[in-house]
Amino acid sequence: SKGGYDFFMLKEIYEQPEVITKTLKSRVDENYNIKFEDIGLTKELLENINKIYIVACGTAYNAGLIGKYILEKLTRIRVEVDIASEFRYRNPIIDDKTLVIVLSQSGETLDTFEALKESKKSGAKVLAITNVVGSSISREADSVVYTWAGPEIAVASTKAYTTQLVILYLIAIDYAQKVGKLSSENAKEFVKELFGLEEKVAKTLLYEKELEEISKHIIKQHSMFYLGRGLDYLTALEGSLKSKEISYIHSEAFPSGELKHGTIALIDDGVPVVINVTQDSLLDKSVSNIKEVKARGAYVIAIAKEGAENIEEVCDKVFYIPKVNDDLACFLSIIIHQLFAYHLAVAKGNDVDKPRNLAKSVTVE
Ligand code: F6R
Repeated sequence: SKGGYDFFMLKEIYEQPEVITKTLKSRVDENYNIKFEDIGLTKELLENINKIYIVACGTAYNAGLIGKYILEKLTRIRVEVDIASEFRYRNPIIDDKTLVIVLSQSGETLDTFEALKESKKSGAKVLAITNVVGSSISREADSVVYTWAGPEIAVASTKAYTTQLVILYLIAIDYAQKVGKLSSENAKEFVKELFGLEEKVAKTLLYEKELEEISKHIIKQHSMFYLGRGLDYLTALEGSLKSKEISYIHSEAFPSGELKHGTIALIDDGVPVVINVTQDSLLDKSVSNIKEVKARGAYVIAIAKEGAENIEEVCDKVFYIPKVNDDLACFLSIIIHQLFAYHLAVAKGNDVDKPRNLAKSVTVE
């Protein structure tokens, strides 16, 4: 049941504080130690790996991009992220020193499943991250880590995405520790911060009413842009996908610094630009990017961290997420995007849970 919510999507958005913690607890003990003994990613095996592929489709692919960011940052191992339907047909370089991580909420997406089988044939070790116990992908992989998001009914994925991020972060922290790139104290600190997300996500959800208001003014627009730098760009990709699939408003996500290399020609009076500016080290650069689009008439909505300076005066609207480590800001900014997409779709009178032309699990090629 929808538990009093108008749509499953909204219910699932609100379940995130709880399922993030539930997923963490499934793999972390009371002393903040990560438990991955059963998946066979031993120190010896990891030391022998020289490349990781993350393979997925759609929202899971977007989660994979963040997985690459954090895995490379913490482990210094090369990671490539591939769309399953591309990976399968381009003869990727895989051998027994490759770890392939397939990400799939349903565990049934055909392209992802086939990519898994190909990878195994080529000698790679395959780890699956999925939300469905006993799914095809979970049965075929060498090992499985489950997300504990609970059933996701709405076609637009929300809680599956954030719980996939949780697992990817835990894998990155555990991996970095095993290969000697992260001390056990720092690993524990990081894990503790992940547990802090429950409260911070809950606080971010309090913006729903404001997002509902703002959405009403935007539904007449034909096109929008989502911007960000670094991790913020990866969140922009998922924000744009969310709003496209349920609000049917065209949008594109761009790295903030890339816009001026062509696409800024599309910025005109009133065009909404949603920009993530949660990365402290990139804040000044992002402010310049905001000024560039403002000067061309854009309506700028920014997502920044509490305490970020000089943002308000250059934007039309700012949503402040709670203070958090830069690497974890993506868990909070995506909440704003999900609620924004949801309210755009509601304001347009769309069937939020069953958007046109889409199926929950894609079992055709
Ligand atoms: C978007 C969405 C899809 C899925 C994609 C992969 O909100 O839900 O893009 O993420 O079809 O599905 P899974 O994760 O089941 O393999």
